[in-house]
Amino acid sequence: MTNRTFPQGFLWGTATASYQIEGAAREDGRGESIWDRFSQTPGKVVNGDTGDVACDHYHLYKQDIQLMKSLGVSAYRFSVAWPRILPTGTGSVNQKGIDFYSRVIDELLAAGIRPFITLYHWDLPIELHDRGGWTNRDIAGWFADYAAIVARALGDRAQDWITLNEPWCTSFLGYDMGVHAPGICNHHLAVQTVHNTLLAHGAGMQAIRAASPTPCRVGITLNMGYNLPATDSEADRIAAENAVDSVYEWFVPPIFAGHYSERLLSEGGEQQPVVQPGDMALISARNDFLGLNYYSPTRISSAGGVAHAVRNPNGEYTEMDWEVEPEGLYRILLKLKKVTKGQVPLYITENGSAFLDEVAPDGAVHDERRAAYLRGHLSAASRAITDGVDLRGYFEWSLLDNFEWALGYTRRFGLVRVNFATQERLIKDSGHYYRDVIAANAVI
Ligand code: FCB
Repeated sequence: MTNRTFPQGFLWGTATASYQIEGAAREDGRGESIWDRFSQTPGKVVNGDTGDVACDHYHLYKQDIQLMKSLGVSAYRFSVAWPRILPTGTGSVNQKGIDFYSRVIDELLAAGIRPFITLYHWDLPIELHDRGGWTNRDIAGWFADYAAIVARALGDRAQDWITLNEPWCTSFLGYDMGVHAPGICNHHLAVQTVHNTLLAHGAGMQAIRAASPTPCRVGITLNMGYNLPATDSEADRIAAENAVDSVYEWFVPPIFAGHYSERLLSEGGEQQPVVQPGDMALISARNDFLGLNYYSPTRISSAGGVAHAVRNPNGEYTEMDWEVEPEGLYRILLKLKKVTKGQVPLYITENGSAFLDEVAPDGAVHDERRAAYLRGHLSAASRAITDGVDLRGYFEWSLLDNFEWALGYTRRFGLVRVNFATQERLIKDSGHYYRDVIAANAVI
């Protein structure tokens, strides 16, 4: 049993995203997004599920914020749906969209919870998709204009901004593998999308800083794992050390060193992003913090002479088929400390697990494995802090069971169970465990 205390003022949060929880897809002037279109396309999402209703958070936000308050959380990461603010992506502002997020912020502040706002968590207005979406470099300007509108309207009460969530997923799941909206399979376009998301991040940071009525902090959230050896053989250890971590390499060097990874570019052959003069300076402008989403490592084996990813036969896996291994979190935190020269505060903006939860005869959800996942990863985070990582907060994914993208409602990540037929909420045992961690400010 570990008992590690976190620094005073460490933020304990939960995270969600607009399309995954809000519902009210056609209410109060919200425009259509690429995820509405994608989920309504037969065969794209398991069971034909959509985010039309999701957790109905648009109507139940007060109750959800009270749930967070009862857990004792001090911060909440949520995203703004671009098509609620600008139904066609650019042009006229939908005041009702602004008003919704304004109400959410007031409610959070009244509950003593600090808002962390993600501007883009994947719900791009469909009109912008029709103009090329993320493959069109004009999107940097469209995004900056949208970000400025939100920062101007909400920046009197919210000071922590995340431009984009996981641009690797936007680029490669959306435009290369086609398993996320908009469902395109074109590697070349995905590579250009990487660059355009980075441009949008740089332009968005500038726009938010200029528009916010109060001093603010701006960063980005990147998803990262860590390459761990499949076995403890020397050959696997070397293979893991040398294997490319493409998520890391596409985004960390441009943002923190102002250039693309030479290795990726040389391996890419003809597939290079088109970079214009001034782009890299914009992309590598100062970040006030970096958000890390960590779920799982990748196991690298050298068997057969070629390094490749394998399953860990002795590993524990979640319902996402992601290995549970907190050591990967510890290692990536240390690596990020090194690459940012310890000068950029870090937040874990997502970490969590999906399991097959059941409501027990006693009416509770005894999700010991989710609590154990939390305990393991919080211990790793605490160890990283002890070893000098400037980690300021932890946002558990997720507050609620929700719409898990192409997997629809078949994967439950919540600390709180949602009955999607009745919209009833029920705090799971892991939620109670998290509440006790927060109260102790320590891994217990
Ligand atoms: C991340 C996403 C988040 C959620 C988790 C499980 O990649 O940012 O919305 O789906 O995975």
